[in-house]
Amino acid sequence: MAPVPLCPAEAIPLRGTPRCENTVDLAEADDFLRRHHAENPELGPVEHRLAEVHAEVAATGTYRHTPEELTFGARVAWRNSARCIGRLYWRSLKVRDLRDLRDPKEIADECVEHLKLAANGGKVRPAITVFAPDEPGRPAPRIRNEQLIRYAGYVGPDGGVLGDRRNVELTDLAVGMGWRPPARRGPFDVLPLIVEREDAEPSMVELPPDAVLEVHIAHPELPWLAELGLRWHAVPAISNMRLRIGGIDYPAAPFNGWYMGTEIGARNFADADRYDLLPYLGRRMGLDTSSVRTLWKDRVLVELNRAVLHSFSAAGVTITDHHTESDRFLTHLKKEEEAGRSCPADWTWIVPPMSSGITSVFHRYYDKRELVPNFFAGDTEGVCPVIH
Ligand code: ARG
Repeated sequence: MAPVPLCPAEAIPLRGTPRCENTVDLAEADDFLRRHHAENPELGPVEHRLAEVHAEVAATGTYRHTPEELTFGARVAWRNSARCIGRLYWRSLKVRDLRDLRDPKEIADECVEHLKLAANGGKVRPAITVFAPDEPGRPAPRIRNEQLIRYAGYVGPDGGVLGDRRNVELTDLAVGMGWRPPARRGPFDVLPLIVEREDAEPSMVELPPDAVLEVHIAHPELPWLAELGLRWHAVPAISNMRLRIGGIDYPAAPFNGWYMGTEIGARNFADADRYDLLPYLGRRMGLDTSSVRTLWKDRVLVELNRAVLHSFSAAGVTITDHHTESDRFLTHLKKEEEAGRSCPADWTWIVPPMSSGITSVFHRYYDKRELVPNFFAGDTEGVCPVIH
């Protein structure tokens, strides 16, 4: 493989941000620009824009997307997300262009705005806010939280965890940075946002209560379940994935859709390394938990998932169920095929975590090719091997 050309700022030592040393991959930029024009014929021929971008990259090592390119690129990144079952509405993604923001505090404040406009009083809107990209010699800010809303996980003296086990490390980080948990710690304490930039002071900002829409969980027939004080937030906003469009990396670009019930009821509440609620609920339901063969876990799972869907609906907060979403995904797949495109999909993520065989998405295989634009985990992994 030919070595990647280094940018003029090569001499400036940078810590832990290898991507921002490289000039933009022109083949990836060209491919994206051609796709943008091909899918939007009203833009006319692409040649002028290609020449413009080549000149900009030659002079600066990078280029700036037009607002239209950014919007299209972010939507296509969602369309290409092989793990997402909810892609039928990829065209409706609202794109907030905040690329001029690089200051950690300002970014944290705009994440709060993002949450408010995404929650929209319960009628959840898919949205992405795009902050400054990596540029040669000029690293972009990054959000440490995996999602904008994360519940603290506190390790007790006996090794048990109060709250979300997944967030123990983030909780420790926040505490180490001076965050004070509430006087009475609970299982659903919202963690502060932590935004970093390697050449600036990190910023830690508490989410105000009006930015965190939550739903209390009750069961349609089991009144005692409401008394457990279970709740979950309405907006799942992933905030630690790198958006890559046409060779440009946007490391801070939080995005959200709305929840599918099983994400909460069959994973967040049920996984042994999350809230691990099944054993307790099985006993409360009076089930025979002496053997897995009684299918007590399966029975609890169904009731817990009914409770989640019931509670979100009753609160007027958008949520979908795994049957509906499976059918919608196949509609999306058909539309993509009709448009002459392949729809990358990862069976192991698309198939819901309960009742798999009675959902429509179970009964077929998918195209596994990875495409860009896309979202990637981490700074270095996920350099896309295949371009459209
Ligand atoms: N599964 C994650 C969670 O439970 C959220 C992932 C994104 N989900 C979505 N519906 N857009 O929080």
